[in-house]
Amino acid sequence: MGKDIAILAIESSCDETSAAVVVNGREVKSNIISSQINIHRRFGGVVPEIASRKHIENIDAVVDAALSEAKMGLSEVDAIAVTYGPGLVGALLVGVSYAKALAFGCGLPLIPVHHIEGHIAANYIEHKELEPPFICLVVSGGHTNVVKINSYSDFEIMGHTRDDAAGEAYDKVARALNLPYPGGPKIDKLSAEGDAEAIKFPHVMLEEGSFDFSFSGLKSAVLNYLNKCAMTGQEVNPADVAASFQKAVIDVLCAKAIAACQTTGIKKLALAGGVSANSALRAELKRVCEAEGVELFIPSPVFCTDNGAMIGSAAYYEYIKGNVAGMDLNAVPGLKLGERRY
Ligand code: KG4
Ligand code: ZN
Repeated sequence: MGKDIAILAIESSCDETSAAVVVNGREVKSNIISSQINIHRRFGGVVPEIASRKHIENIDAVVDAALSEAKMGLSEVDAIAVTYGPGLVGALLVGVSYAKALAFGCGLPLIPVHHIEGHIAANYIEHKELEPPFICLVVSGGHTNVVKINSYSDFEIMGHTRDDAAGEAYDKVARALNLPYPGGPKIDKLSAEGDAEAIKFPHVMLEEGSFDFSFSGLKSAVLNYLNKCAMTGQEVNPADVAASFQKAVIDVLCAKAIAACQTTGIKKLALAGGVSANSALRAELKRVCEAEGVELFIPSPVFCTDNGAMIGSAAYYEYIKGNVAGMDLNAVPGLKLGERRY
């Protein structure tokens, strides 16, 4: 065994300021997350300018806390990692600038990380035995993908959403039900009290054999249902609407993920992104994977939503490949999965 590699990782792509210390990509020494959700909630969504300002206010304390919880000084850290895309440009720039200054000041290598590759790597933290190849269902606020992970650095997109991401659909439907932002966790909770068979919402599978998704039709169907009820005076049961909507999302996600395992012959499926915190999705995937003989990997909820530890995990595999950025590293808000822009 070589020397242990400790990476200080920074994440600021959206509304969480986070820093973590991760050793050898799998051992989390600390994972500090400062959420801005309470600030953005009254606006019904993330306000980019406010997010950037709050990152600036918080980042120093968050990094300090990550180092002190890990009982490490900067001299014991081997590299600084940072999310450089995709995300909100102003928010990303705070983390990127901070990481650049830290790396330059300490003479440490700077490791740029793709946010979604971080979400995928979250699976390595608690599943020490998980190694590529595997299939990953990525479901976040901005992305919905079926990805074939061929190696730690080779990501093949098998399917993507053609319109709304799964998390976006959750948040929009929640808004229509007058639930506060972010709506995903609220729908998750409310659905437990509802009947998922009460309303038949469309299950959009697209063409035979396609791994792509489309959730905007489902979102419109929910909005139309609510409008129709309002116009005809029919009483709405929000729990039934939430549960029926959620079933339509989850049935499609599970069907496509399992189909990807069957098509590729890869019997390992991982789940990633904020929506993977959803209790019904976790339960249904577990059920179908057991039925199909597919081994399922799911991170604990704290590693599903945005966090620094997942960035530290992905960064380790970049580090050992020698993927180091210069001081000209910039934020790339539209960075594609598998792409390297530095
Ligand atoms: O991955 P993430 O933290 O941020 C992005 O990279 O986008 O995902 C945020 C998304 C939001 O849309 C939020 O509503 C959704 O994840 N989400 C959930 C749950 N927890 C978070 N959706 C459904 N059920 C949940 N329990
Ligand atoms: Zn995310």
